[in-house]
Amino acid sequence: LRDDESIDLREHIRGIPDFPKPGILFYDISTLLRHGPAWSAAMARLGRAIRPHRPDLLAGIESRGFLIAAPLALELGLGFIMLRKRGKLPGETVGLDYALEYGTDRIEMQADAVEPGQRVVLLDDLLATGGTMAAGVRLLRQAGAVVPAVAALIELTFLEGRARLDVPCETLLRYD
Ligand code: PRP
Ligand code: MG
Repeated sequence: LRDDESIDLREHIRGIPDFPKPGILFYDISTLLRHGPAWSAAMARLGRAIRPHRPDLLAGIESRGFLIAAPLALELGLGFIMLRKRGKLPGETVGLDYALEYGTDRIEMQADAVEPGQRVVLLDDLLATGGTMAAGVRLLRQAGAVVPAVAALIELTFLEGRARLDVPCETLLRYD
């Protein structure tokens, strides 16, 4: 993937106030994705951050995590596995319920998606409270994976999501 070093990724992410709720500033990656050279640069840079963790596979969390993990897997020449919301995956699955601000959610993956001991780096678009990423790490371990690191394009540092993770977390853009 091409990495045009003159591209400042921050110029391609916009903050939309009061979405999805009043008082929340939503960091929107749509503007990055629709700019070919910026998307390519973001994936190339994240690829360089991940490679030292020597993954065997990459995993992405539905849905925006797929947009990051799938192109990165191609870039690194690796396979890609999906962590999905409940009831979407066929065959035998393993799942994990996790707490949200209000209520709970569930993520699932196919039980045979990883071989025991395979190194799987987990990706998402954004690390906020870290609840989603932490649940993904636990689920991957439940399926037999070793998770050497996680990564996201954006980190909202003021939410301290990183503190909920027990693995290194690579992020490209930090907002506080
Ligand atoms: C957003 C974002 C991350 C997660 C981060 O996903 O894409 O996956 O929230 O929040 P956390 O760190 O506080 O858990 P969302 O659930 O909005 O769904 P989407 O990816 O399907 O849009
Ligand atoms: Mg998401």
